[in-house]
Amino acid sequence: MVNIVNPVLKIGIGCPVTPILTWYLLRVNLVFGEYMASVQLRNLIKNYGDTEVVKGINLDIQHGEFIVLLGPSGCGKSTTLRMLAGLEDITDGEICIEHEVINDLHPIERNIAMVFQSYALYPHMTVEENMAFALENLGVDKKTRKRMVAEIAEVLELTPLLDRKPKELSGGQRQRVAMGRAMVRSPDVFLFDEPLSNLDAKLRGQMRSEIKRLHQRIKTTVVYVTHDQVEAMTLADRIAILNGGVIEQIGTPKEIYGRPKNKFVAKFIGTPEMNVLENLGDDVTPFLATSIAQQVPDFNVLSIGIRAQDFHLNACELESDSIGSIKVTLEQVELMGSVKHLTCLFSDQRIVAEVPYRDERTPNEFELYFDINKVHVFDEKDRLITQ
Ligand SMILES: Nc1ncnc2c1ncn2[C@@H]1O[C@H](COP(=O)(O)OP(=O)(O)OP(=O)(O)O)[C@@H](O)[C@H]1O
Ligand SMILES: [Mg+2]
Repeated sequence: MVNIVNPVLKIGIGCPVTPILTWYLLRVNLVFGEYMASVQLRNLIKNYGDTEVVKGINLDIQHGEFIVLLGPSGCGKSTTLRMLAGLEDITDGEICIEHEVINDLHPIERNIAMVFQSYALYPHMTVEENMAFALENLGVDKKTRKRMVAEIAEVLELTPLLDRKPKELSGGQRQRVAMGRAMVRSPDVFLFDEPLSNLDAKLRGQMRSEIKRLHQRIKTTVVYVTHDQVEAMTLADRIAILNGGVIEQIGTPKEIYGRPKNKFVAKFIGTPEMNVLENLGDDVTPFLATSIAQQVPDFNVLSIGIRAQDFHLNACELESDSIGSIKVTLEQVELMGSVKHLTCLFSDQRIVAEVPYRDERTPNEFELYFDINKVHVFDEKDRLITQ
């Protein structure tokens, strides 16, 4: 089934008013975000031979939403994105834009723009030519192309660089050109595949803010792939956590951080990684044992998760009336700036506590206190039971 969802393409082919109309529609889109689209993935499956790579993904992406697909290497993020862009055949399922199935639509007809990790700029072309290339292919005349590119270049602060070749640009500038090239097409949906991973930490932070600002301004629907949880937490309206080709959890950054559905999500989100204590037995203060046992009778098979930030050196720092504690032995202190990380042993299990930098008292053996309401309790299948 073929559904043209984009009025630019629908009206565009072979029509003499195309350049002006295209320019007008693109401008309206850029300024008001008129053409953002909703996206639906229905039981999306991808197999390479006998290997199942994407195992039935369901995802509803709203108009103008910024969705991040987050997961470890090889979990199927790029494959999902490439199927959405039409660059990869799907094995089964449906991809819809505005609830219309687009499985058989050619990539160019989907009006989806993709920004890759390797920006894939044409080295022999200037910034302006790189950005205008897609418009040229769409049959937009030279004068209109120039005007449209100038407008986007202004948004991305690329105006002084329009005559340069890619090799004369920094990594961050190249990245912006790649985004500009996608933006001039005024897509319904933007796809980003790890667009910042080639940049150094400082530039990555800057570009992250630029992408966020840009999205707030143009409000186009974005699907953004990364394995960097900080990027996911700072950029996303909602995060979909992928693991081995399935979605483990979908939620806002706050939901995913505060209430991870299972141990995998709990450990994947947050720095340092959430401490998970197994086989607690009698080592935990009796109060914790009793409190959890009330909710889950079979206490011994459980594990509990406590974030490093939820440990305190003094019980009086906690405003809770249900305080638990564990006795630990200090192994290592790492100064992180405003905080320090104490790596400790609890029986034979290694845990990390984040405490204020100013706290000088770190004897060899001490108690770590925590609010029992902030403890994440997992069942024998690693699913969250309660918090
Ligand atoms: N053309 C292919 N043929 C066979 N297997 C493939 C092909 N492309 C990808 N794969 C496999 O599919 C799985 C998912 O790959 P994908 O590129 O989607 O991972 P990813 O989540 O994007 O990982 P990364 O973070 O490393 O980019 C991997 O195990 C990969 O080896
Ligand atoms: Mg990838």
